[in-house]
Order: sequence, then C-alpha cells, then structure tokens
Amino acid sequence: MLSFVCPVCHVDVPEPGSSGVRCPTCGRQFPDRDGAMDFTPNPPPDPDVQERWPLWEQLQHNFVVAADEIPEHSLSVGRRADATAFARFSDLRGSVLDVGCGPQTEPSYAVGANGRFVGIDPLRGEKQREFTFVQGIGEYLPFADGSFDRVLFATSLDHVLSPARSLSEARRVLSPSGTVNIWFGEVPDTELPPPATDSPSLRRRLGDAAMHPRAAIRRLTGRTPPQPPEPAYLRELAVPTGAIDIFHVVHLSSPLVSEWLSAAGLTVADAGRHGASVFLCARAPDASADRGGGTRRVARKRGSPGLGTERAPQ
Ligand SMILES: C[S@@+](CC[C@H](N)C(=O)[O-])C[C@H]1O[C@@H](n2cnc3c(N)ncnc32)[C@H](O)[C@@H]1O
Ligand SMILES: [Zn+2]
Repeated sequence: MLSFVCPVCHVDVPEPGSSGVRCPTCGRQFPDRDGAMDFTPNPPPDPDVQERWPLWEQLQHNFVVAADEIPEHSLSVGRRADATAFARFSDLRGSVLDVGCGPQTEPSYAVGANGRFVGIDPLRGEKQREFTFVQGIGEYLPFADGSFDRVLFATSLDHVLSPARSLSEARRVLSPSGTVNIWFGEVPDTELPPPATDSPSLRRRLGDAAMHPRAAIRRLTGRTPPQPPEPAYLRELAVPTGAIDIFHVVHLSSPLVSEWLSAAGLTVADAGRHGASVFLCARAPDASADRGGGTRRVARKRGSPGLGTERAPQ
C-alpha cells in the first residue's frame, strides 16, 4: 500500500478519502479525481517554478498535440528497441518510480518490470493506467524519503519545469542503495565545422555526430543536408518565447545532466547508449560502498549507430 506525504512540506498525510486529502501542516488540498490522486501543487510554492509555469504549459500543450497525432514518435508505446534497451539498462526491480511516465496505459519499458511500479505525470491520460498512477510533477513528489529502489526519467527530464528540483526530489525518495536512471535523446552540435580530414579514424572525425545521420553528413562534408519533411501538425505548433524548440527549453547532454546530478548529490555510476539515446545511472555517493561487489550489470556501451529505431528527443 502506497502512503503519501505532502509534496510541498513532506509530512505524512492521512489516507486519501473520496474527496482527496488535506495537508495537516500547510493546509494544501489535493483532490482525488476518478480514483487517482492529483498531487500537483498549483500554484507551486517556489518562485522559479512559478515563473516557468506559463512557458511549460505551452510546451505541454505542444507535447499533447504531438502525442495524440503520432504517439509512437513521442511516447514509449509498442515494441520500441530504445525503450527495451532502457529497461534492460535500468534493471527494473524492487520499487520503481517513473517520473514523467506519460499519458499511455503503460510505457513499453515498464512491461516486465518486477515489483511495484508507480508512475507520476502531470497528464491524466484518457485510459486507466496498468500500474499505480499519481498525477503530479517531479519537482514536488508526494512520496516519503527513501521509498524507491529505482527512480526513472525516461525522456522526461527535458520536459520538467525544473530539472534541478526534480533530481533533488528523486534523490530524496531514493532508497540508500537505489539508482536514478535517466534516458535522454542527444542532439549533436551540427554547427561545428567539419574536423580536419587527416584525423586518424572516421569515428574520431565524427565524434558524437556518429549517432546522428544528418550531423554526420554535416561533419564530413561541411554541408547541412535538407531536413526530412515534417508532418503538417508539427509545422503548426509554435516555438514559445524562451524555448529552444516546440517541446523544450534546453537540449540535454551528458555533461549538463551530470552537473545537475551532482548538484542533487548524485554521482553517475554507469552510462550506456542506444543510437541517439543516452542512458545514465546515478546513485548517492555513500551508497556505492555497500553495493555488494558490483553484482549488477547495467553498463552497456551501445556505441554503434543504427541499432533499432531512434526516437528524436521530445
Ligand atoms: C516525452 S514524454 C515521455 C513519457 C514516457 N516516459 C515515455 O517514455 O513514454 C515526457 C513526459 O514528461 C511529462 N512531464 C512534463 N513535465 C513534467 C514534470 N514537471 N514532472 C513530471 N513529468 C513531467 C509529460 O507530461 C510527458 O508525459
Ligand atoms: Zn503541506
């Protein structure tokens, strides 16, 4: 049985009744909506999150339009090689929290997870989830300290209002030996000039562009190949002021995410990749001492391009 805390002040709240629950400390009211709790603190308590909210709502709108049109471009649905690779990398066992689980009934990477699977997302979705679902946001998790063995961000860290706050909350709810597992899509820097052609190997000439066919052509030839035609609905979505594209305010990279992780008191323990997808596994530093001889095999450097389908970062 999952028990909740107030997502703002982290005190235990009573078991939710049919009308929801009220925090005994801050008095915030959290409603039960058709059998699933809504723990979204709206308005949020912190000014930086408040400030980001209007832009985030526009990006969320774009995401909903895109996910409705072609779900498999934006969500882990169906048989996706990248989602399967992430599930394998994350070694889903014990108690798992999926931050930004999506509106679908079950993300592909959750199929076959052993143990309890809990998802949180600001989107309610249209159908009932096949796992325990709570509506809310990663910045304010309604779970007690140390509740989960795995906390996942599966292509969601670049959608949240505050990655720093979300990772710090992930660490709070992580059990001492638990891991935070992040999957993000890498966007290569296509604007870099092509490196000198006398570099020793093709791999070195391409660098991180090796995973991205368009970027690879740009690095090798100096010319940007034409964009493949976009679906019409994508062209109709506006890039809001302050965003970098129709879905994001920032493109993630391993150094940036590692920086956020270390600010949250987490250290990268493993990394892997699958095409353009990057996987990072982080833990609290004091947890590594009692890892039990490194029996967990999660490091998988999937370096070669073209391993199954690739999802453009959402
Ligand atoms: C690209 S989708 C990924 C969904 C799912 N993990 C999957 O792979 O199918 C990003 C998700 O992040 C969610 N999201 C956006 N802001 C969030 C926040 N502040 N906290 C938690 N999730 C958030 C979105 O609603 C969306 O469902
Ligand atoms: Zn409270």
